[in-house]
Parts: sequence; C-alpha cells; structure tokens
Amino acid sequence: MKKNALVNWTLNKPLLPKCGESTALALLALVTMMTGPSAGFADSVTNRGTSTPALAGATIIARPSLALLPPMGWNSWNCLTEHVTEQAVREMADAMVSSGMKDAGYQYIVVDDFWEQGRVSKPERKVEERPGRDAQGILLADPVRFPSGIKALADYVHSKGLKFGVYTSPGESTCGCNTASYGHIETDLNTFAAWGVDFIKLDMCGDAEQPEAVLQEWRAGINRLNRPMIFSSSGIGYDYALSGRYADMWRTTTDLMTKFRYPPGQFRKQECICSVIDQQIGLERYSGPGHWNDPDMLRAGNAGLSLDECRAHFGMWAMLAAPLIAGNDLRIMKPEVRDILINREVLAVDQDPAGRQGYLVQQPEKDLQVWVRPLVDPTQIAVALLNRGSVAITNELSLASIGIHGPAFFRDLFAHQDLGLQTNSLAITVPAHGIRLLKISTFEFLTPPPAYVFPPLDFSQGPVRIEAEDDSRVCFYKGYATNALPQFSGESYVTGVKAYSLRMRFNLPIAKTDTYLGTFRYQNTGKEAILGKLNGSSVTFAPTSEGKWQTASVALPLKAGMNHVQLYCSGLEQGDLAIDCLDLQPQ
Ligand code: GLA
Repeated sequence: MKKNALVNWTLNKPLLPKCGESTALALLALVTMMTGPSAGFADSVTNRGTSTPALAGATIIARPSLALLPPMGWNSWNCLTEHVTEQAVREMADAMVSSGMKDAGYQYIVVDDFWEQGRVSKPERKVEERPGRDAQGILLADPVRFPSGIKALADYVHSKGLKFGVYTSPGESTCGCNTASYGHIETDLNTFAAWGVDFIKLDMCGDAEQPEAVLQEWRAGINRLNRPMIFSSSGIGYDYALSGRYADMWRTTTDLMTKFRYPPGQFRKQECICSVIDQQIGLERYSGPGHWNDPDMLRAGNAGLSLDECRAHFGMWAMLAAPLIAGNDLRIMKPEVRDILINREVLAVDQDPAGRQGYLVQQPEKDLQVWVRPLVDPTQIAVALLNRGSVAITNELSLASIGIHGPAFFRDLFAHQDLGLQTNSLAITVPAHGIRLLKISTFEFLTPPPAYVFPPLDFSQGPVRIEAEDDSRVCFYKGYATNALPQFSGESYVTGVKAYSLRMRFNLPIAKTDTYLGTFRYQNTGKEAILGKLNGSSVTFAPTSEGKWQTASVALPLKAGMNHVQLYCSGLEQGDLAIDCLDLQPQ
C-alpha cells in the first residue's frame, strides 16, 4: 500500500484505513448537573472536578465519555507551530496556572505536531528523513527541542494539576511530515499511556479508503488502555454523525486562521472566523454531552485580531458549545485577552451542562445574525448578536422573536452588566466585527425559536448565478479574488496560486430535493486539463483558448434545506484555474 498519497475527499485531512472495533466504554464519568436557576455566575466554571457553582448540586448521571462538557485547554499549534519546545510548553503550563485559566476550568496542555524526531517525505513536500522510532518501535521525540522527553513533560504538566495531550496521525506521516502512527497504533497508544497522556489529537493525515475503520481502530485502542484519554479527531468529510460515534470531539472545518473575515482580494489560506461560523449552521444535531463539534482551536490572543473580534470569536465558540482550546502564547497574554478567556459568564454558556449547541435563528440584515443557545435551566437562553460587518449595527431585538412570551431579564455577559427587565424589545448596538452576548431569563413561557431557514434559491426566472467572490454564499481557500482577467461577471473571480489546491465551498439553500445542473464559468490558462471534484462528482476544466471564459457542467444532487457543496481542485501547478461563478438550475 502506498502510504503517503493524499486522498482528497476528506474535509480536513486524508486518512488511513485499518480495522478495529469500538468495544468498551472509555470511562464511566460522573457529572453533577445543575438543576436550579443560575443567575450571576460568580466563581469557577470548569469541565470537571473543581468547585463550580454552574455545576453545583444535582443529579448524578453516568455517561460513556470523558468529555461530558466541551474540553478546555491549550494547544501549541496556533502560536508555536513547528517551533514547539518542552521549555515553552512548561512555561505555558505555568502561565495557565498563574493567569487564572486553570481556575477558570482550562485543563489540557496539548503538544501539537513537531514534537516528533522523525521526518518523513511526502510526494508534495520533500524533507530530510530522520528515524522516528527506536529499536523497539517506540516513537522518538525531537532531542533538541524535547531533550527531557515527553514523559518528563507530561509529569511536569501533571505536577501543575493539569492534564497532558499529544498529537499524532493515523498515516505514516503527520500533516507536518513527521513520523506518525501507521502500523504502530497499539505500540503508540501504549507509549502514550505510559507517558501519562490524557488527550490525543488524531489529525487525519495518511492514505485511506475507509475512514470509519481508522476511527474504529483508534477508539477501540483507546478503550483498551488502562488510562482515560480524550479522543479528538479531524472531521470525516461532512459525516459528523460518523465522527461522533467514535471521537469525543471532531473538527468541522479546515484550519482557522487569525482573521475575522477576509476582505476582497486577500489570499485566503484557510478559514476565517466568519467562514467557520457559517459551517456550523445545521450541525447542532451532531453535538451534545460526550461528543462535540470542534470548530478548531481558539485564535483569541494571536496577533491580528482586535478585542472585539476576540470577543465575537470566543462568544460564538461558547454559543456553539465548542471545545475551548486556547492557541495563544499564554506567557505574554494581554490582560484584556485573559479577561476574555476566563470570563466566567461566557464560560458558563460554553460549559452549560445540557450541552445543546446554539443555532442561528435570525439574519435581520446581511451582516447581522442572531443565535440562540437553550441552557440547562429551562427559564434561560443565551442569545448572541453577531455583527460580521465593519460598521456598528443597532438592532431592535424583540422578545417574541426569540421565543419569550412575557417580561424577561437581560444580562450582558461580556460587559457583566444587567440590562434590566424588558417587556417587548430592546435596542442593542453591536460593534463592528463584534458580538453582544446575552443571557435572558424569564419566569414566563419560553419556547426556544426554530432555526433560521435561509430563503431558498429561486429558479423561477431561470438559472441562479452564484458569484465565486460572494462571501455570503461561498468560502474558498488557497486562493484569492481578483480582477486581472477581463470580462468576468460580478465584482471579480477566484483563482488559486501556484502549487496549491483550490477549495471552494458553496452554501446552497434549496427548496426541493432534486438533481440540479451546476455550470462553472472558468478559465484554465494552463496546458493541461484540471480535474475538480464537486461533492465527489468529477468536473473537468479543460484548457481555455486565448484566455476565454468557458463553461464546465456537472450534475449535482441537492436536498431541501442548506447544502454545503465543496469543489476541490488539486495540483494547480501554476495557479492556472480561475472560477468566475457557478450557474445553478434544476435539471
Ligand atoms: C493540521 C491541523 C492543525 C495542526 C497541523 C499540524 O493542519 O489541522 O490543527 O495540527 O496539522 O501539522
């Protein structure tokens, strides 16, 4: 079997097949659930263990997972990337304690990729090969950056009262071309257990035809260990129900960059905060206690986000019941960022024991969204007003529109401010690229409102044109919108860059389940045809003569409701492909 070839159909990372079987429950964890009203969270809110008013005093239930609440911690990738060292990780653990994050509930210190010594070449990335394992097949840590070894680091993290996590992949190499676990799952899991690992991030790099088999084998392997471990995995395409059968948490997107929203023309490497949020729409049914959608680690505190953007990001992750894995350098964290990350009232939303993921309920204007998260207390909901635009927006939020039929108390969770008893509506101003996060409590009747239904595309006048640059309908990665070629439609077109794959996701609200015809308007200025996959169906972008726009069509089955349709084009040797728009019509 060829072990390093990429398989492109996965959402996030290619996979490696190997069979195993999920058997025993990972652990019967006990949780104390809150039953009474919980206005004004004063103290600590945490995953497990420590004192927590939000979780105080109630029913004890047993569940087959360690992650009854979204895991909270820190991971090295977003700030240290391939420069991670044991010294830096120790300092992060120290800072997690001294900053108050530990007291606020953050628990896991996770070492991401590049702790390994072994470097593995991939066809698309040549690296110097270094042995990854010793004579017994045990994974070796990089001796320069981790001179004391991983066990000593885990011991240090544990000595701080924290838990320790580590990264690997099921393929022969990790996503960063380091030695991974192919053919060594049992050895590696035993090694991790012996080192004292409490959390495993399995990043789906490798080669695979059967992703479920990979998840099954890792889940079974973890269950066989005499040590509880959180199982965090990448997504398997868009099949979150499948991920949820095996993993405690799973990625729902590609990597989140330190960007709130990409401006037109900027190269988009991967996701921005708004595009990640777009992809969570409709995913609430997959998430709940023990199994969480993971919209990726936090970027709050990484250089490049304003404080309003950090609040919007963090507040939305709380609304989404997302794992809160900080990705900033805790050693140099600004107090304002720290205050966001340890905001008890916001954490209480994220860690609400009912574990119901928030959902979009209104889109009163193009850049404004209203999200609702029902809380464990049936008299309370969390409500987020998210402003994706670059000017402040004032919205008159009516109580009836969010399912409240009577007077209700409003509290602003970032401002720590009571907004009083409201009877009909309240005018709320949301800063640019910002959020207002409210907890609303009522003694009257509360029926959480239904999810927002996007107006379906209207085919009554013929095909509907979706412009590639329209970020209300399209997210794209590894490319940028530009206007260098003449005669495009709309404001620009989207093109990839050299040696990258171009990935585009179209969010298509449809009234009727049917097969539609999708026609791309494109140019391929290269000499070779470019093969794209549209949700698995092939579409060929033949070379275009004299730089002329041409069309390529593909049949596209769509279901009633919102469809997230992905176009993936690999091997753009010279960034030759430009996509102007997609015309869609019933077949
Ligand atoms: C992938 C993951 C990231 C990080 C890197 C490490 O891109 O999505 O979170 O783990 O790999 O190589």
